[in-house]
Amino acid sequence: MSQHFQHDVLVIGSGAAGLTLALTLPSHLRIAVLSKGDLANGSTYWAQGGVAAVLDDTDTVESHVEDTLVAGGGLCKEEAVRFTVEHSREAIQWLIEQGVPFTRDEKHGGEDSGFEFHLTREGGHSHRRIIHAADATGAAIFNTLLAQARQRSNIELLEQHVAVDLITERKLGLPGQRCLGAYVLNRGTGQVDTYAARFTALASGGAAKVYLYTSNPDGACGDGIAMAWRAGCRVGNLEFNQFHPTCLYHPQAKSFLVTEALRGEGALLKLPNGERFMPRFDPRAELAPRDIVARAIDHEMKRLGIDCVYLDISHKPADFITAHFPTVYERCLDFGIDITRQPIPVVPAAHYTCGGVLVDQHGRTDVPGLYAIGETSFTGLHGANRMASNSLLECFVYARSAAADIVGQLEQVAIPTHLPSWDASQVTDSDEDVIIAHNWDELRRFMWDYVGIVRTNKRLQRAQHRVRLLLSEIDEFYSNYKVSRDLIELRNLALVAELMIRSAMLRHESRGLHYTLDYPEQLPEARDTILEPPTYAG
Ligand code: FAD
Ligand code: SIN
Repeated sequence: MSQHFQHDVLVIGSGAAGLTLALTLPSHLRIAVLSKGDLANGSTYWAQGGVAAVLDDTDTVESHVEDTLVAGGGLCKEEAVRFTVEHSREAIQWLIEQGVPFTRDEKHGGEDSGFEFHLTREGGHSHRRIIHAADATGAAIFNTLLAQARQRSNIELLEQHVAVDLITERKLGLPGQRCLGAYVLNRGTGQVDTYAARFTALASGGAAKVYLYTSNPDGACGDGIAMAWRAGCRVGNLEFNQFHPTCLYHPQAKSFLVTEALRGEGALLKLPNGERFMPRFDPRAELAPRDIVARAIDHEMKRLGIDCVYLDISHKPADFITAHFPTVYERCLDFGIDITRQPIPVVPAAHYTCGGVLVDQHGRTDVPGLYAIGETSFTGLHGANRMASNSLLECFVYARSAAADIVGQLEQVAIPTHLPSWDASQVTDSDEDVIIAHNWDELRRFMWDYVGIVRTNKRLQRAQHRVRLLLSEIDEFYSNYKVSRDLIELRNLALVAELMIRSAMLRHESRGLHYTLDYPEQLPEARDTILEPPTYAG
């Protein structure tokens, strides 16, 4: 039997954004935090490099803002950048108060940071401003926030709960547009339950799983973007998929990222013959923004017909390497690569979804009562290319802002009642799961081949044709069979892929992460690509 639950706030996602929102809301509110797998299954847990913030005496808000704008290829919303950077120090202070064990300062490069924690450097940053916990910052943050959430009796942490779709007044045929909660598949019971909530927040991460090769964990399927679109929200700049330049290249190493902080601390990119190539592409060489480095690697791999390039930090002292990069060191050693003595084989892989659900400074979407925070949102911070370590920062700043906004509206909004149950009367158990597996593979393969680092009109048209066929097949499947996590994710991923392709086709220029051979130049005016769903009430 499916069940009905009521909460003040329903948070879909248990990563940096979702946990920060839950912990920042007042403790008298009943909050549910959903995760579709175990609680650690989002990208947050895997974050390595750290969090960018203006923390030491020699750095300034202006400098962080300027670096972000430059990396963003002229497309960042300056207001959003300024808002995020101005709130960076207090966000980090809050994390420190929660108990995150950031790495303490010792000497680095003879500079005196004037700050008790060690700050590292990454591409695009003109200062050392990345606070980190060695090279496992995400795990340190996640574990700390989760431990805090577990101590709060008002926060229910629900793993293996997959949000299927949002419930809105419009969908129920009621007057108004408000979001009233969500239908949620409980993977334990197999039932789809009804979660009514005064406020709902999508904190469901990005969509890099749309590509065959990705640094992201399996759940990064754009569920939040797809659910928001179906609920009537606009989405923006989905053509900007960031490829991280350096993922470990090894047949058994699935999705292992080699942090950009290695390059921040002096690692060099080399060809198989040991020659450095980045200075030929950009004066900032290895520390150029990610779009430039990933494209340069892609170019060299295609030019020379090689499977990977090499990242070499072996010229640094071994104890420095093992102290700063214990995770990368251990993981590479698992594959027989001793990074204190050998270069690391690396390739670019899909890493981050710069666009997403359109929100304002409080994380409010177009649908009243519905917020989007973290990687699922499009705040305007990242423009055409996200600068390293600005993503976690965005999660904290916007989650805290959304919490304040919800508090300001509490008195005007009651918990919705009498929501209908999920209707499963017309569906049966699937007897053809091969369709799901096949479509997953096909989608991710053509997105990699046709909508990757270098695009053309023809490739995008091919991808669009294929994704539309898949969408109609998936729709039919969805109407006839019971939902499962795989089916929900495939349905969302295919929709988000279609929105990405459509966005890419609308951009007739090359800018930041969107590079197309048919329009290699950048247009004089920078414009966002905003898509409106058929149900947009705006
Ligand atoms: P996530 O942490 O991805 O969490 C998503 C949550 O939503 C999960 O709990 C998931 O279960 C849940 N969810 C999704 N869909 C559903 C659904 N339908 N129903 C229920 N729950 C759902 N950024 C930095 O700033 N610094 C770094 O050093 C850094 N390193 C990175 C390293 C790696 C390997 C990766 C992959 C990313 C890195 N990033 C980094 C990016 C950053 O980690 C992410 O952008 C950020 O963690 C996203 O946080 P989030 O809270 O938005 O989502
Ligand atoms: C990394 O550590 O290289 C990832 C940083 C990021 O994605 O911001």
